[in-house]
Amino acid sequence: MTQALSTHTVVAVIGAGAMGAGIAQVAASAGHTVKLLDSRPDAAAQAIKGIQAQLEKMVAKGKMNPDAASAVGARLRVASHLADLADAGLVIEAIVENLPIKQALFAELENIVSACCLLASNTSSISITAIGATLKTPERLAGLHFFNPAPLMALVEVVSGLATDPAVAATLHATVTAWGKTAVHAKSTPGFIVNRVARPYYGEALRLRGEGAGDCATLDAVMREAGGFRMGPFELMDMIGLDVNYAVTCSVWNAFFNDPRFSPSLQQQELVDAGFLGKKTGRGFYDYREGAEKPAPSTEAAQTVPNDIVICGDSAAAAALALRLSAAQVSFVRTPSVDTRVAQCGNAVLFVTDGRTATARAAHSGIANTVLIDLALNYQQASRLAMSVAGQCDDAAAQATTGLLQATGLKVSRLADVAGLAVMRTVAMLVNEAADAVNQGVCSAAAADAAMRLGVNYPMGPLAWADQVGLSHIRDVLIHLAASYAEDRYRLSPLIARHVFLGKKLHD
Ligand code: NAI
Repeated sequence: MTQALSTHTVVAVIGAGAMGAGIAQVAASAGHTVKLLDSRPDAAAQAIKGIQAQLEKMVAKGKMNPDAASAVGARLRVASHLADLADAGLVIEAIVENLPIKQALFAELENIVSACCLLASNTSSISITAIGATLKTPERLAGLHFFNPAPLMALVEVVSGLATDPAVAATLHATVTAWGKTAVHAKSTPGFIVNRVARPYYGEALRLRGEGAGDCATLDAVMREAGGFRMGPFELMDMIGLDVNYAVTCSVWNAFFNDPRFSPSLQQQELVDAGFLGKKTGRGFYDYREGAEKPAPSTEAAQTVPNDIVICGDSAAAAALALRLSAAQVSFVRTPSVDTRVAQCGNAVLFVTDGRTATARAAHSGIANTVLIDLALNYQQASRLAMSVAGQCDDAAAQATTGLLQATGLKVSRLADVAGLAVMRTVAMLVNEAADAVNQGVCSAAAADAAMRLGVNYPMGPLAWADQVGLSHIRDVLIHLAASYAEDRYRLSPLIARHVFLGKKLHD
C-alpha cells in the first residue's frame, strides 16, 4: 500500500481564489501546515480570513470544536514569494487557467523546491502532459482536480500525464484519501473523467429542446422526477453559467478534434452571444428577473382510468406499474409479455423506449396504437414519467394509456415523438461516454462511476445504471439513435458491444 504524505509535510497552494482557498482549507484541516501564495497583494491573507470565518461558522453550528478550528486556522500561513515555498513537500497550483503561465510558474518553482517535492495542478481543462513538457522533472507532476467547493465536494481526480511517475500518482491518491476525499485515477485526456462523461447530460437536452421534444421546464422535470437527477440540465446550465458550460463543451470538442459526440449547440451559443448567461445575468434558459415566474412543466390532463388494464411480463417497469396499481386499488390482470410490451388496454400497447421513435416502432411492428414510456431510475418511486405516442396512434388509445399511467399515481409528460425520449437517451449516452473512457484506458469502471456520483451528484454511476437497465437494452438504444440520426455522435462504444456479446456486465 502506498503511503500518504505525512502531516509533517508542508503543503503549498499557489492561487488563493475560489479553488486555492478551498484546497488550502482541506489540507490544513487534515493536519498539514499550508502556505498560501497569490500574485495579487493581500489575496492570500484575505483568503485565510475567509477560511477562518468558514471554520467559525462550523463551530457556531456545532460541527467543529473551537480548539480544532483554531488549530486549523493556525496552520494556514501567507507566503509572499515563491522562495518562501522552499520547504514544501507538495505544491498544488490553482492559478489562472492558462498553459504558458502555468508552465512558467512550475519552471520557476522547480529551481526553488527540493528534488523530492511533488507538484500538482488543479487545472480542469489543460493537459497535464503539456504542463509537464517544459519541466526538468515532469515525472513528479500530476493533476489533482478538486471540485468546487473543495471542502464540500468529495471527489478528486488524480490525473497522470504521459511522463507522470505512477508512484507519484499513487502517493497523491493516498494523500487526498487521507484528507477524507474519494480519489480516482485518470489519464490526462480532454475533460479527464467528469467533464468528459457529463457532456451528454447537457448535449442531449439541448438537442431534445432543439427538436421540439419539450420545453425546458418539462425536460428538467422529467430528468429530476423520473431520472432522479438533482437538477435538470437547463436549470443546471443556468446555475453553472451558460458561458462557462459552453466554453467547457467547446474545449472538450476542440481537444477531441471536433468529435461529433461533443458538438456544441447553436442554441446555447445564441444565448451566450445575447449575454443571457443564466442566473448570474438574470436570464438564461429561464427568466430570473424580478416578477418573472418559473414556468410549470407540461403535465397531461387527468384521463379516465381504463377498465381493461393488462400488465405484461415482469420487467422493472411492468412490475412497478403492477405494484402501483395495486396500491391505488385499480384492477388489472397480468400476462406474460410476448414482445417486450409492458402493458396494454384495449388495442393500445405500452413499451419502454428502445431508442426508436414510437412512429418507427409502430411501422415495424404493425401495432398502430404504440405508446412509449421513458426510462425511470426507479419506476416504483418516480413521480413523473415521459411518454410519446406514435403518429399512427388514435386519440382514444393515447388517452387510455395516459389514464393507465395516471392511475398509478404518475404525472405524465407527453413529449414529441423523438428517438429515445429524454432519460433513456441521456443515460444511454452517459453510459456510452463512460464506457469509451474505460475502453480507452482513461480510468477504471469503478472510477468512472464514483467520479459521476461524487463529482456531479448523479443518482447512480452510469455503468452501474447500464447494468441495472440491461446492457443489451442500452446497446439497442444507441444503435437505434445512430440509425435515426445517421450521425457518428451516437456510435456505440466497442466496450458495450463486446460485453453484450460476452453476456458480461460493465462492472464484471
Ligand atoms: P480564481 O480566478 O478564483 O483564482 C485564481 C487566483 O490565482 C487568483 O487569486 C489570481 O490572483 C491568482 N493567480 C493568477 N496567476 C497567478 C500566478 N502566476 N501566481 C500566483 N497567483 C496567481 O480561479 P479558480 O476558480 O480558483 O480556478 C483556479 C484553477 O482551478 C484554474 O486552473 C481552474 O481551471 C481550476 N478549477 C476551477 C474550478 C472552479 O469551479 N472554479 C473547479 C476545478 C478546477
